[in-house]
Amino acid sequence: MGLDLTAEEKEMLDGKHGKATMKAMEIITTLGEIYGAERLIPISSVQIAGVSYHNLGEAGLEYLSEIAVDGRVRVLTTLNPAGMDLEEWKKHGISEDFAENQQRVVDAFARMGVVTTCTCTPYLIGNLPHFGEHIAWAESSAVCFSNSVIGARTNREGGPSALASALTGRTAEYGFHLDENRVAKVKYDVQVKLRNTDDFGLLGQVIGERTRKAIPYITGIPHATSEALKSFCASVATYGGVALFHMENITPNRTSIPEEIEIVTQADLDQARKTLDDENAVIDFISIGCPHASIDEIAKIAGMLDGKQVTEGKTVWITTAKPTKDLAKMMGYYDKIEQSGAFLVSDACCAVAPLKGRFKGLMTDSAKACFYARGKNDFRTEIRSIQECIQEATS
Ligand code: F3S
Repeated sequence: MGLDLTAEEKEMLDGKHGKATMKAMEIITTLGEIYGAERLIPISSVQIAGVSYHNLGEAGLEYLSEIAVDGRVRVLTTLNPAGMDLEEWKKHGISEDFAENQQRVVDAFARMGVVTTCTCTPYLIGNLPHFGEHIAWAESSAVCFSNSVIGARTNREGGPSALASALTGRTAEYGFHLDENRVAKVKYDVQVKLRNTDDFGLLGQVIGERTRKAIPYITGIPHATSEALKSFCASVATYGGVALFHMENITPNRTSIPEEIEIVTQADLDQARKTLDDENAVIDFISIGCPHASIDEIAKIAGMLDGKQVTEGKTVWITTAKPTKDLAKMMGYYDKIEQSGAFLVSDACCAVAPLKGRFKGLMTDSAKACFYARGKNDFRTEIRSIQECIQEATS
């Protein structure tokens, strides 16, 4: 049985809504056929990944420019981090050339009607779906957060498929849009006291590596802040490809509880920490905000840096969304951070900015940032709490 398209969807496929929409509909229907969907469903928001010129290159920019000729988004669409702070890039050591190309990428998205705040935490700045809402998001950490913590429904979209959904307002109904694919498969009882975001990141690494995409049902965690959950989401998605988990008494989805139980102990977390701590790492770069920092995290960091100075030879990036940075300016947090010599960087992050060769060792509270710092930038890494990161930066 093929895809059952509505009259409007057929029109899109026939090119009656323009070339970009036609190509987008071809992508959506092809995915639907591959995954055995019976129909397309309307989606209410999109998050697009693949925004950094560092990753896109000239070929990616050309592809976007072509779509921007007549392609216009039909639903709220936001962007993942770019390779630089769109306003203050110069003082972060980004080259003129790179800045010009990055701006051309953002301009192409703007022509399509995309909201060009570049962040991996769109749910903190106004792209916030409600429980049960169908969306099409790329960016693995945000996908995991929206499916699990919010209870919205999305597959792990790639850059092109997310953009195709934005241009058509549709996705194919398969995968995590369907109840039967949202059931937990393995139970993990966490017998560890989790204190900070780094602990939650390490837990994500342990469960991610063990569960390998099988939906986990997690017990034993009495309380988790949004910041702890975003750290967990980033990590469990990075290390295990997990797009949905259930956390007892914390996340809102309902599921049957699996019989198979695995235990997570302090020794497991210690072992995970060991794998991310390189021996003899020389730390010259400290980055917090993977996923992008919330205003509460920034307030706390500003308090920790108030009246202190970043040690010579060290660079500190606190990465966040532009609206959160604006709020931090309004509250005086930006001044406290920048007066210490640290940078409050919006729109970008340590993984997608062109930083290779600039630093030797990264200290961060994020298990995901460690993964990319090693894989993409050849940095050595150490994972610590935010407080310890700031101590390292100023001692
Ligand atoms: Fe976000 Fe960059 Fe981390 S996109 S999740 S801050 S690697």
